[in-house]
Amino acid sequence: MKIRYIILIAFSALLINSCYYDTKEELYPQLFSACDTAQYDYTNAIQPLISNNCFGCHSNSSASAYGNNISLEGYSNVKSVAESGKLIGALKGLAGYSPMPKNSGSLDNCSIIVIEKWIANNYPEN
Ligand code: HEC
Repeated sequence: MKIRYIILIAFSALLINSCYYDTKEELYPQLFSACDTAQYDYTNAIQPLISNNCFGCHSNSSASAYGNNISLEGYSNVKSVAESGKLIGALKGLAGYSPMPKNSGSLDNCSIIVIEKWIANNYPEN
């Protein structure tokens, strides 16, 4: 009697378990979904990323109070910070750089890949 009970429970557990499945793509969408890098110019790809994630501290008006006087507003500002190596250094939290965005999680991998592509292709503006 007791053993039947155990078998029954084991079987139901198995049944319930078999209905629950997930894929690594669903669990870690950032790591497995394709990264769309078709657009990587400043105006369409880089500027929106920077303004969404960095302007709280690095716009022309916020930089002096919150961003250590580093403005990332406008093509030439972003380009020169990128040329210095600081943009990627900070975004990737490389040794010797302050990890950015400050006090929050890093940008998703795909955004960083797009920024690296912009740099590797010599900073296209449009
Ligand atoms: C909450 C404010 C804040 C946000 C948001 C922020 N930063 Fe910063 N950032 C700072 C401060 C303050 C510094 C000066 C260094 C420090 O205090 O860590 C800095 C420094 C930097 C530097 C120079 C790093 C170095 O080691 O020389 C870069 C590049 C930079 N930020 C890029 C960014 C980018 C790109 C984003 C958005 C993805 C961003 N920051 C978001 C506040 C911020």
